[in-house]
This record gives sequence, C-alpha cells and structure tokens, in this order.
Amino acid sequence: MKISPKKLILTLLLVAFQQTIFAQNQLPHLEKKGKTTELIVNGKPMIILGGELGNSSASTMEYMQPIWGKLKAMNLNTVLMPVYWELLEKEEGKFDYVLLQQLITEARKNQIKIVFLWFASWKNSMSSHVPAWVKLNQERFPRAKDDKNQSQEILTPFSENNLQADLKAFEKLMAFIKDFDKNEQTVIMVQVENEIGMLPSARDYHPLANAAFKSDVPSVLMDYLKKNQAVLAPEILVRWGQNGFKNSGTWEEIFGKGLATDELFMAWYFAKYTNTITEAGKKIYPIPMFVNAALNRPNKLPGSGYPSAGPLPHVIDLWKAAMPAMDLLSPDFYNPDFKHWNDLYTRHGETLFIPEHRFDNTVMAKSLYAIGHYEALGFSPFSIESPEKPQNEPLGKSYALLEQLTPLLIKNHGQGKIEAVLLDHETKETVINLGKYQFTFRHDYTLGWSPEAKSAEWPMTSVIIIQTGEDEFYVAGSGVVVTFKSLENPALNIGILKVDEGYFENNIWKTRRHMNGDQIHQGRHLRISVGDYEIQKLQLYSYK
Ligand code: DGJ
Repeated sequence: MKISPKKLILTLLLVAFQQTIFAQNQLPHLEKKGKTTELIVNGKPMIILGGELGNSSASTMEYMQPIWGKLKAMNLNTVLMPVYWELLEKEEGKFDYVLLQQLITEARKNQIKIVFLWFASWKNSMSSHVPAWVKLNQERFPRAKDDKNQSQEILTPFSENNLQADLKAFEKLMAFIKDFDKNEQTVIMVQVENEIGMLPSARDYHPLANAAFKSDVPSVLMDYLKKNQAVLAPEILVRWGQNGFKNSGTWEEIFGKGLATDELFMAWYFAKYTNTITEAGKKIYPIPMFVNAALNRPNKLPGSGYPSAGPLPHVIDLWKAAMPAMDLLSPDFYNPDFKHWNDLYTRHGETLFIPEHRFDNTVMAKSLYAIGHYEALGFSPFSIESPEKPQNEPLGKSYALLEQLTPLLIKNHGQGKIEAVLLDHETKETVINLGKYQFTFRHDYTLGWSPEAKSAEWPMTSVIIIQTGEDEFYVAGSGVVVTFKSLENPALNIGILKVDEGYFENNIWKTRRHMNGDQIHQGRHLRISVGDYEIQKLQLYSYK
C-alpha cells in the first residue's frame, strides 16, 4: 500500500501530537537519569525552588492572601503547605475540600506548584492535628504511653483504629487531588505526616506496644537485614553483630537491651504505619511521597534528647525495609553540618530533597549547593512568608539564577558535569576537578579586598559550575573567586580566553558584559563578589 507524502506528514504530526499529550498527562513521578533522579511534572523535569509555610498560615485564604505575592517576589516555583486532618474531616466521615480547592486555584493563578504536607497522626511527634472526634475518644483512638505509663498526646502506632482513621482520610485527600488536579498537576508531591518521633521516652509503653516488643522481630525485617548486610548503617550492624548476628529472636535478643533497641523497634512500627497510609494513598493517586526527619544532635539520648525513631540515618534501614511505598526520606535542617547530614542521606546514591531549612542567612548559598553538588530535587526554607521585604532576600537571587539555569542543569544531570562549593570562614577553599581542569574555589574574602574580610563573620557563599564543552563552563552564584590548573600536564599554564557575564532568556544565553581587566584581575581569576549574584560563562585555554 502506498501512502501519499501528505498522508505521511499528517500521520507523523498526529503521532507527535499524541506523544505530547501523553507526556503531559503522565502523573508527577520520579525518573532516573544517569546517577541522578529527576522529578517529572507535566511531562518535563523540574527543580523545586521551594519554601515551606509556617504551620498555621494555610488554614484560611484570608491569611494566605498577602503571602502569594511574597512567594513570587522570592522567585519560588513551589510552596510546601500543610493539609490539616482536623480541618479536612471536622466530623467523622464528612470531608470539606473547599479550602484545598481554593489554595490550589490560587496557586495556579500564581503559577506556583504545591507540595502538600499531611499533618495527621503525627506532627513533630505530637498528634495535635488530629480532629477533635479523635482527640476526644481515647478509648477508640489510644495514645502512646511513656515509661511511667503516662499517656502522651501521641497516637500509638500500634492501634489499628488509629491507622485506619488516618488512612481513610488520606485516601479521601488523594482522591480529591486526583479528581481536581490530575490534568493540571499543581500538586506535585505529598509529605506523609511530619517529623515522626517518640517523646519523652524512646519507645511507646502502651500494652499493644509492649506485646509487640516481646514478640519476635518480623521476618521481613530480618530478611532485609541479611540481604542488605553490606550496606547497613554502621549503628545497626554493630548492634546486630554484638548480639551474634542472630537470624531470629525478640528485639532485645537481636539488638541487645537499651535505648538504641527501643528506638529501632519504634522506627520499624512508625514506618510500617506510615507505609500503609502511603500505599493506600498511592493506590488512588500515585504521585511521589516522602517523610521528613527532625535531625538529632550529637550525644543526646533518643526520647529525652530528641524525637526517637524518626527517619534518621542511624535507624534508616528500618525505615527503608518497612517502607517500600515511600520515595524519599528527607532531612529537615535546624542543625549545623549541612554537608555531613546530606552526605549521610545520600551515602548509597539516594535522592535528596530538603523540605525544611531554618530561614537564616545561609539558605541562599545552601540552595545552590544542594542543587549543584547533590543534584537535589529541590530546596525549601521554613516559614518562607516571614520576610518583610521579600524582594531583598538573597534566597530570591539564588532562585532567580537557578530558574535560568534549570534547562542547563537538567540537560547535564547525572553525568558528572555539575558541581558546587559551599564556602565560609571555616571552609575558605575547595578544589574540584572537571574534565581536564582543576578549579580552586576560594571565598571572595580570601582576596582581602573588602574591609569585611577582616571580621570572623564571613557570609556563607556558593557557586555552581556546569561543564558545557571541553573548555567551556558556566559559573553561577555569589561570593567566590576561581583559579584554574591543568589536570593533564602540570607544566601547562591555564589562562582565561573569555569570560562573559550574562543571563538566560528563554534558554538562550545573552551576554550583558564582557568581563576583562579588573573584573578578572587581568586574567588571573574569575570572580563573583559577595553581594553580587551572577552567571558567568568561562572559556579556558592553555599555554606553555
Ligand atoms: C520542624 C517542623 O517540621 C515544622 O513544622 C516546624 O514546627 C518547624 N520545626 C519549626 O518551628
């Protein structure tokens, strides 16, 4: 059969059209690209330039009204906001979606995506967001007990009633999102519960919990430990080993007596409960879901010193084993040591997403570092609506750079072409190899050219570097000076062929300034001063 050229073109156009529609209709999901995992929304990869609202801000549209403009002024593309179980299901079995509908509609008007945070059984360990009909019926919805048999305002994870009540409400939430949003895809991910953990004792002493504690460690977990022995968190491996690597037994027989075992036990049951809810929600609308962790501080005890048993690095394997439905385990940052914790959360190539970081003067630099160095899904300071003058926030400047760079970052994801540095008074210098070059990044104040350099309070700075050709790189960020060496031949000198400062408009590079003379120290370095937020395109060459 012969097909006329006209018919062939029409058929090809139809196929292309169908493929575009198919891609757009795919639900938000995670997709592996090289070593990186990307978030795909409306058929395209996106990087979350986010911020999380204060806990009570999304409870009325009236309170939210002045906030949308602030989010835009800081160049956010995504807002993280709670869905409060107590407002969604004020009366048992009666669901009110009006607020959610209005929030999604307003987000769409502002071209902002939403990550919903399911504040339900647990919010920062406590159960403060459960509806009144749950709070008032302790017989039916039992509480966790501490080691003195005192009831806590914490639903016990050992009660089937608690689980089912939360799960049913979550199913309704996901069904609503599916119905209202699956075409538009304003809601791109969901966090299930919030900073789960046990306080003030390391484990729950409810009779149901005590019975589980005296029972054998579930065989699913034992199988997981055996299969993953080579990559278990050292804290878990050591306890298992010290007790003889048994194949079966109670929690204390397998891991020994003590708070660490209490914590492992709770981690398993918190994670199982949350996984059951996640699984039920995903059956209805399978978009990416995650849990977040309140990081512990060194030398503090679980329960009395920090919320015991959350998705923390030292108990992470229990969360992983119990949560096949969960996509990500994410750290919340109110602690120092940003690199240390992120390294732990990504030690086996896991995907990083930072749903909360204290909104302090380090977030500008850390947003660049998280997205450059870890190729994170996104970054999100907490209490994002707090600035009086959002247009002046340094975070808005780094987000503006990241927004322009997104297509280039996505193009180069997962291929070892993207790096970033994080510098301050303690870490003044970082060396990075990319292609045939060695780059030395120094904090801008190492030049000693600015009077502030004498103070011990150096602002945290960062740049991302992306390799786009053998000798071509983009450097973007603030407060960094860069010099270059040859990796191939130390005798070879490396010089600057060209540096342009500019921006991307519709993904096309536009040069605003050709940088030379003082701006590159007559060819000695590339520099973006503290207080400037720039993208510079760099070409290097060698001479003998
Ligand atoms: C971490 C929690 O996840 C947030 O909801 C909020 O309570 C912040 N701490 C800070 O207050």
